[in-house]
Amino acid sequence: MRKLAAGNWKMNGTAAALAEAKALIDAQPNPACDMLLCPPATLLAAMAEMARGTALRIGAQDCHAAASGAHTGDLSAPMLADAGATHVILGHSERRADHGETDAQVAAKAKAAQAAGLIAIVCLGETESQRDAGATLAVIGAQLQGSVPAGSTAANLVIAYEPVWAIGTGRTPTQAQIAEVHAFLRARLTDLIGAEAATVRLLYGGSVKPGNAAEIFALPHVDGALVGGASLKAADFAPIVAALSAA
Ligand code: 13P
Repeated sequence: MRKLAAGNWKMNGTAAALAEAKALIDAQPNPACDMLLCPPATLLAAMAEMARGTALRIGAQDCHAAASGAHTGDLSAPMLADAGATHVILGHSERRADHGETDAQVAAKAKAAQAAGLIAIVCLGETESQRDAGATLAVIGAQLQGSVPAGSTAANLVIAYEPVWAIGTGRTPTQAQIAEVHAFLRARLTDLIGAEAATVRLLYGGSVKPGNAAEIFALPHVDGALVGGASLKAADFAPIVAALSAA
């Protein structure tokens, strides 16, 4: 399995930020893992053009479940593929919170993404109150079952475990907590899609930094990371890519 270092720029970056993607390629021209940046949609085509022929892959941060139609402001999976995206992040907790996205909607989007030839990066994770209530595995199990469409394979699905309370906070779960959730995800995914689950990449996300990446990547069933703030600067993201390459 080739591991995946993915950066989620969220709603950050104008054209000037393309220089950071260029610097990342220069710093990590040939990583031993897959390397992905997901810029805002406004930068997708330009970044894909810049990255053509390099090791950097480009992803989007959301798509509509329909291929086209009267959906003002939305973007479809075929449009993202046409702009040069190979991946799309779906069901991020910020979209679940800001836009009320449900598991069923995430599954429909993932199905559309896969049909368009994109790799769906399906995000899930518990809130702090859910963890405090001892409901972490129940919440994550339900999100997984509801958000992963039938027909998912290791070639068209990536799962990102992102505890909501660890996103942008500088707080991370303990190594035992990450390992517990990832082992649970592997087992539940096997129930859902069978033996194919063994090679689906399971990413950890939430306050991954150059200083903690190596210890997280050493954990069983952690096949990469989905990185927010530390993916915005090549000087931060390149060492994370290097850590994953060495894991
Ligand atoms: P941070 O790395 O900024 O905590 O964000 C994680 C995240 O939400 C990635 O999708």
